[in-house]
Amino acid sequence: MKKDLLNIYDLDAADFEKIWQKARKLKKSLTEGKPHASLKGKTLGMIFDKSSTRTRISFEVGMYQLGGIALFLTSRDTQIGRGEPIYDSAKMMSRYLNGIMIRTFAQSSVEEFACHASIPVINGLTDLLHPCQILSDLFTIKEKKGAYDKLKIAYVGDGNNIANTWIEAAARLPIELSLACPKGYDPDKKIMAIGKKEAKEGITLYRDPLEAAQNADVLYTDVWTSMGQESEQEDRKKIFKNYQINKKLLKEAKKDAIVMHCLPAHRGEEIAADVIDGPQSVVIDQAENRLHVQKAILEILL
Ligand code: CP
Ligand code: NVA
Repeated sequence: MKKDLLNIYDLDAADFEKIWQKARKLKKSLTEGKPHASLKGKTLGMIFDKSSTRTRISFEVGMYQLGGIALFLTSRDTQIGRGEPIYDSAKMMSRYLNGIMIRTFAQSSVEEFACHASIPVINGLTDLLHPCQILSDLFTIKEKKGAYDKLKIAYVGDGNNIANTWIEAAARLPIELSLACPKGYDPDKKIMAIGKKEAKEGITLYRDPLEAAQNADVLYTDVWTSMGQESEQEDRKKIFKNYQINKKLLKEAKKDAIVMHCLPAHRGEEIAADVIDGPQSVVIDQAENRLHVQKAILEILL
């Protein structure tokens, strides 16, 4: 595996297999109460410029269970927030820590950090991508469906960091991806162009969610308004109102389709309450798997 995990393209076929295998093993060890402290004495710095529940808890608890520690560093409480350059922060932190996880706005900030750090840098979400999320979602799909090969994933909603990362996944793995986004809210153009060219089973962008959901094995959605877009929230509520996973949409998918959401969710907006809390929803298992998959990533990189 490469030094850093900044996007899905940092991984090759062998890396994906290694992550699934380790995650399965680590999940089993934890469930059976077997010690698995493979990162004794190791430290992870976690830089958060945005809020987080799952990512923070799973990385922090994950490091603890692996025998190491994680430091929660916000830009508000560190010199980064007062303008200390990424160049200095990355070089200096590399002398204290064994790895860094960053959640921030610009993808270029994470890339710049990785470029100057001599230790592994993990992307914990940017405006553009959320690789740790989609890696763990692929693991959940494997658990629920046996494999993800040839499955159809239908993503309904905003062409945001989650949609972009699904496109990268479909460019590397044998999954069919259909997306439904309102006009003006498409995924990143460059990511889409590369994804479409490299996709194994095809990537199709629709305007109509009903079309995208046809025969899907997985229905996936995310918030209409991402972190950093709060001022657009009221406009977005109107623009996205037809882009909801609800019972009507679920009928278009396969009978045994599963419903996924990276969380946090807004019931009554991007997903209906009776669907996210219904029998086809796997969102809580999905959230749990963030822990196991991130531990696998940490074991490999650190
Ligand atoms: N899905 C996800 O990344 O959740 P948090 O924002 O709570 O970390
Ligand atoms: N698209 C969402 C994902 C949150 C996990 C956001 O960026 O806020």
